[in-house]
Amino acid sequence: MSLYAGLIAHAKQAILRAQATYSGFPVGAALLAKDGSIFTGCNIESSSYGLTLCAERVALAKALSEGVTEFQAIAIATPKPPLCPPCGACRQALWDYAKNIKVVLAAEDEFQIWTLQELLPHAFDEGFLQ
Ligand code: THU
Repeated sequence: MSLYAGLIAHAKQAILRAQATYSGFPVGAALLAKDGSIFTGCNIESSSYGLTLCAERVALAKALSEGVTEFQAIAIATPKPPLCPPCGACRQALWDYAKNIKVVLAAEDEFQIWTLQELLPHAFDEGFLQ
């Protein structure tokens, strides 16, 4: 049983709200703040495909827009394996706002736990803009 079982359960619930008619690939995410609050997200697709929002960035935007800015982990769930790693754009957005959080991938009874730095080594960030 993962330390993150509760967070995974939230991400799995969020799959049910995915708007993924074009890809048929629903994703749920649950972002755990340092204060223990959880913000869920699902992918939201558009008929203009490039406007699609990934589950992870929906969760991140919800948290930031509610004034929550410190995070410890994100769970990303799909209905079935293989486990779904965050796309490159989501890795960057998470690094920008959540730095080296834990990234928990889950599907059915499978899970893996990574650090964001493992998934995005040598990241670009605000440190290069000084
Ligand atoms: N997707 C996510 O929501 N998160 C990821 O990290 C990978 C991809 C969504 C975007 C699109 O709606 C569908 O999965 C297929 O790419």
